[in-house]
Amino acid sequence: MYPLRRNRRLRTNEAVRSLVRETIIAPSDFLVPLFIVEGKGVKEEIASMPNYFRYSLDLLENEIKELWALGLKSVLLFVKVSDNLKDNAGKEAINPDGLMQRAIKTVKNVCPDMLVMTDVALDPYSEFGHDGIIENGKVVNDATNEFLAEMSISHAQAGANFVAPSDMMDGRILTIREALEDDGFTDTGIMSYSAKYASAFYGPFRDALDSAPVDMQEIPKDKKTYQMDYANRFEAIRETEMDIDEGADIVMVKPGLCYLDIVRDIKNAVDVPVAVYQVSGEYSMLKAAAEKGWLDHDAVMMEQITAIKRAGADVIASYFAKDVVKIIQS
Ligand code: PBG
Repeated sequence: MYPLRRNRRLRTNEAVRSLVRETIIAPSDFLVPLFIVEGKGVKEEIASMPNYFRYSLDLLENEIKELWALGLKSVLLFVKVSDNLKDNAGKEAINPDGLMQRAIKTVKNVCPDMLVMTDVALDPYSEFGHDGIIENGKVVNDATNEFLAEMSISHAQAGANFVAPSDMMDGRILTIREALEDDGFTDTGIMSYSAKYASAFYGPFRDALDSAPVDMQEIPKDKKTYQMDYANRFEAIRETEMDIDEGADIVMVKPGLCYLDIVRDIKNAVDVPVAVYQVSGEYSMLKAAAEKGWLDHDAVMMEQITAIKRAGADVIASYFAKDVVKIIQS
């Protein structure tokens, strides 16, 4: 006799496949990263990120309206800071009239219900391209935390709903949470980049913001003294649990695809929402392969996004967000 179970019955046609499908992608899964520059009428393509752009504030308005119309209701803001405003402590980051602060207000102005998250780290503001303050050739932890707390307050004052510390200093979530509470920003959330690995996949992002560590003697060439060693797994759980204890509302694993084992470990270990950042290098790799005609862009994109959600992502930060939503809505 044939086997009683024939698993192919549930794959017979699209109707039954969709009936039993376990992972469904929706616009509400996404957090859209946006790059912002000074100027007027600027929409410049990032060389290493085809079809991804930096916007000046006036054109950011249109982009925000378009995202909202597509059902994309959360954005993560990054700013490109001009070189003359960079210093070691990243002081421009707390300028109440700085680009980030104006960007937050711009988004809230055109679309008050859009959820605004902001990157909190020094690198775009640092003359050395590091996420913290440098003293004697080292990225110093506690002084950096104090500054990150000030930066978070400044973003909250401008209207950010969530701050997203991406720096990997020890204890920064507690320092930021306490500062927010002390200043009355009890409703401002923290999405912590809790398991952020020292990854070569961030290359195109550093082009986008011109934020790579500088090549200077005495300055660390990479971020390995604060971002995690990609060989490590248990450390990711420890980092994440500590951030939750310190007050993180959402935790994050970054990068995405190469780290889906970590995503699942963390999803099983914690009970707060887990975000995954599909980073710039992951985006650029697929764009390049598709340009060469070697991969089917849309099919691979959907497969990757579905894999990220299947692994346990409650929130997906992705440069593909718009492309995906256009496909699922067509
Ligand atoms: C800055 C930051 C980085 C990314 C997000 N926030 C770069 C880095 O840590 O060097 C990378 C995002 C991407 O590659 O898409 N702290």
